[in-house]
Amino acid sequence: MKIAVMYQSLRGGTRRAADTIANSFQSLGASVGIYPVTNIDAQFVLDADLLVIGTWTDGLFGIGAKPAQIGKLNALPDISQKKASLFVTYEISPTKSLQQFEEWAQGRGVDLVHKQGFKVRGPFSKDISSEIADFTQRSIEAITPTDVGLG
Ligand SMILES: Cc1cc2nc3c(=O)[nH]c(=O)nc-3n(C[C@H](O)[C@H](O)[C@H](O)COP(=O)(O)O)c2cc1C
Repeated sequence: MKIAVMYQSLRGGTRRAADTIANSFQSLGASVGIYPVTNIDAQFVLDADLLVIGTWTDGLFGIGAKPAQIGKLNALPDISQKKASLFVTYEISPTKSLQQFEEWAQGRGVDLVHKQGFKVRGPFSKDISSEIADFTQRSIEAITPTDVGLG
């Protein structure tokens, strides 16, 4: 199982969330590549069974919140038909940025598996390991063949 985690971070919070996600998938036995969106390994990404893409929420703290620097994500190679889980970090609300992030992903033709927001407050980040475990669990369910049984 191959998983590419790609993130966009300004102050490091989203990078830490991405690191924790990558570690969580690794502990489940996946082969994980983790990259800033501007410096990916395109071959690894194209071979991956699952893409995880994350960015932070930008806006005027509540008004006009959106996924940050979405233009940089447009530079990703063709990810259509690929299974992908999205996440955003935020301080006030993830709703608008997740919604627009999902629209972006649909525009890129990805097969959306899961989306989730993580409340990350700069250097004072609280422990989000249980939310991350939830994220990895929901994501991995979508790429693990279900036991169809034989009888
Ligand atoms: C310029 C700026 C604008 C932001 N606007 C919002 C916002 O509108 N809503 C929100 O929930 N969080 C907002 N945030 C909080 C960030 O999304 C949050 O702190 C995030 O974890 C930062 O990720 P980073 O550490 O990877 O840069 C803003 C942060 C910055 C720096």
